Amino acid sequence: MLANRDDFRSVTLLNGAKSPAELLFTDECAEWRQREDVVYLETVDRGDSDWEGNVGVITTLIPKLEIDPRRTLAAICGPPIMYRFVILDLLAAGMAEDDLLLSLERRMKCGVGKCGHCQMNSKYVCLDGPVFSYHEIKRLTEAL
Ligand code: FES
Repeated sequence: MLANRDDFRSVTLLNGAKSPAELLFTDECAEWRQREDVVYLETVDRGDSDWEGNVGVITTLIPKLEIDPRRTLAAICGPPIMYRFVILDLLAAGMAEDDLLLSLERRMKCGVGKCGHCQMNSKYVCLDGPVFSYHEIKRLTEAL
């Protein structure tokens, strides 16, 4: 998206970690903070003595956004417990299930459909994904 920035209207990036030391991609985060064509918000569950940013789980950032549900696509990556709460908040904001894209790469092992490690009911993450819309997987008991 950043490489083709003109193809998109607004781009918002929410980043969360348990603590400031656990924030990933710190070089990229510094760049995103500086960009005027990207809204970048970050939060940590627990701050430290140097932290001046938002404290709270990632969903505490969602009310700060102006979401036009008809023109918004969300790409969500993180632990399954986070997915559950982010999905609830984005659905409450009016977003469609098809517009919530979930990365499930963490479930993969062999990556070629042989080991079954990634299987969620009838779907294989490595063959059918690894990115699924919420609508595709919401009824799979093993997905989230
Ligand atoms: S990761 Fe082995 S079958 Fe998908």
